[in-house]
Amino acid sequence: MMQPPRAEIDQVAEASIAALRAPSVFNTQPWRWRLAGEHGELWVDRSRQLAGLDPDGRLLLLSCGAALHHATVALLAAGYTSDVARLPDPNRPDLVARLGQGPACEPDDRLYRAIYQRRTDRRPFGDEPPPAAGLDELRAAAGRHTVHLHVVRPDQATEFAAAVAHAGAVEHDDPHYRDDVLAWTTRERQERDGVSARSVVPPTQRTIAPRDFALAWPAGLEPGPGTDRGTVYVVLATDGDEPQDWVAAGEALSDVWLTLTAQGLAASPISEVVEVAAVRHALRRLLGGVGNPAIAMRIGTPVGETGPVPASVRRSGTDVVGLP
Ligand SMILES: Cc1cc2nc3c(=O)[nH]c(=O)nc-3n(C[C@H](O)[C@H](O)[C@H](O)COP(=O)(O)O)c2cc1C
Repeated sequence: MMQPPRAEIDQVAEASIAALRAPSVFNTQPWRWRLAGEHGELWVDRSRQLAGLDPDGRLLLLSCGAALHHATVALLAAGYTSDVARLPDPNRPDLVARLGQGPACEPDDRLYRAIYQRRTDRRPFGDEPPPAAGLDELRAAAGRHTVHLHVVRPDQATEFAAAVAHAGAVEHDDPHYRDDVLAWTTRERQERDGVSARSVVPPTQRTIAPRDFALAWPAGLEPGPGTDRGTVYVVLATDGDEPQDWVAAGEALSDVWLTLTAQGLAASPISEVVEVAAVRHALRRLLGGVGNPAIAMRIGTPVGETGPVPASVRRSGTDVVGLP
């Protein structure tokens, strides 16, 4: 017997569940879905904003953009295009997007499978650099969201490393920043959010160290034998520097990250460089006017023998998705 067609809202509901796995700053998962009529509404959850580190809500909206893109990837895997209205209501700026099911299309689950494989991998990567064709594909992934992916050139590497180190030093001395780190690395287990010691590596010899999360506990993830010699650093940059650009940058971050995961590469974001305004401006100059830096990433080949990073926790659908 033929199955009756699934209600459109069922597809969007399933997509909102897949979007639980989206990356977010400090694993704050700062969004909420409201399923209404034939659409799902994606809302910012301001109670999860990082007051010290992200007072403007840049990384908040980047995180929501990543969740939105994850949802569209799930719709595509089910054989539907997405009908998206971004920041559709100027009177309700916390409504990030209205997502509906668009016309049917050829199902494509390449990025959908990557949703469940993707991790923030803070370990040093291998000596083998990502292939040029792979980087072209990442540039195209960012470009789909009108975001530029700038690969830091060898002659810019020292200045880029200095920018990351300077941002880290400024934040290290900022009590508001430290409060954010402490709050989101000591969450109660049942909250199912925040960053845990299991996904953080202790310091090793490397030019660019990932953010130091280990204020409340010792890091618990083995760094392995990687050297970061083949690691490339990229900056995602937007033409404007407004909330809609931050949402687009989040969508691009998700698209780039899922694409590189499908290629067998690994990555971790470096957002310190945009959190400290002076460093963000310096980075903008370093990039020679390709746009406003929204976030940076390190991308490389995982070292074979180290195995995958453990999956980080997520809130449940019943906490994040409101049924009609
Ligand atoms: C906007 C944004 C900024 C982030 N900034 C950093 C960062 O500066 N350093 C870092 O190690 N991870 C960063 N992350 C990664 C998150 O900590 C990570 O996504 C979250 O803890 C969930 O873990 P998972 O990505 O392994 O699922 C960032 C993620 C997003 C979306």
